[in-house]
Amino acid sequence: NKKAFIFDLDGVIVDTAKFHFIAWQRLAASLGINFTHEENEQLKGVSRVNSLKKILEWGNKTITAEVFQEKMDQKNEEYLDLIKTLDTSDIMPGVHNFLLELKDKNQPIALGSASKNARPILEKLGIKNLFDVIVDGTNVTKAKPDPEVFLSACSQLGYHAHDSIVFEDSVAGVQAANTAGMISIGLGEKDILHEADEVFNHFTDMPEDYINTLLNKNK
Ligand code: BG6
Ligand code: MG
Repeated sequence: NKKAFIFDLDGVIVDTAKFHFIAWQRLAASLGINFTHEENEQLKGVSRVNSLKKILEWGNKTITAEVFQEKMDQKNEEYLDLIKTLDTSDIMPGVHNFLLELKDKNQPIALGSASKNARPILEKLGIKNLFDVIVDGTNVTKAKPDPEVFLSACSQLGYHAHDSIVFEDSVAGVQAANTAGMISIGLGEKDILHEADEVFNHFTDMPEDYINTLLNKNK
């Protein structure tokens, strides 16, 4: 009995969501745009390009293509500076054990992230080798909530969408998993992630033997 286990990165495996928020907030401020926590929730899981588009839309601002590129680079530099010191200790509670348990049970594991920084981050965390397949922002053309990233991950693992389980902290990512016909497990607040099939605050809040429960679960 096997399923494809597909993990989002930012906010699921590692607490980088707060650094994306800080970097976007500084970027928005540099454009004279106020940027709130609620708006940030809508940017979770969303690609760099689409995030900047949304911020400009909310701030009612237009910029040239050249400045747009500059601002994206600026945001990423700021972000990379904030995550410089990431290491194993930044892995979210329970995640490492969960991955090791999957390995122990011979279950296939993939990453499905919108980030173009995913591979170096997994290296910093020392867990890149646990992933059989990595699909990130450098491999897809359509961003979440489009299901492309998850469909690509499950097909590379050789599984059907209905035999795949996605772990997500973002609304866009939960929607992508649902659209793909995959089981969606939300990590975060129930109010925000109400479209997910199940929601936990952390991996450590999952019941005993939850992997077996998932292996027997159907969408
Ligand atoms: C997602 C994050 O995983 O990746 C978003 O939730 C981020 O906040 C997106 O904007 C793109 O990441 P990056 O690292 O390529 O800018
Ligand atoms: Mg995320």
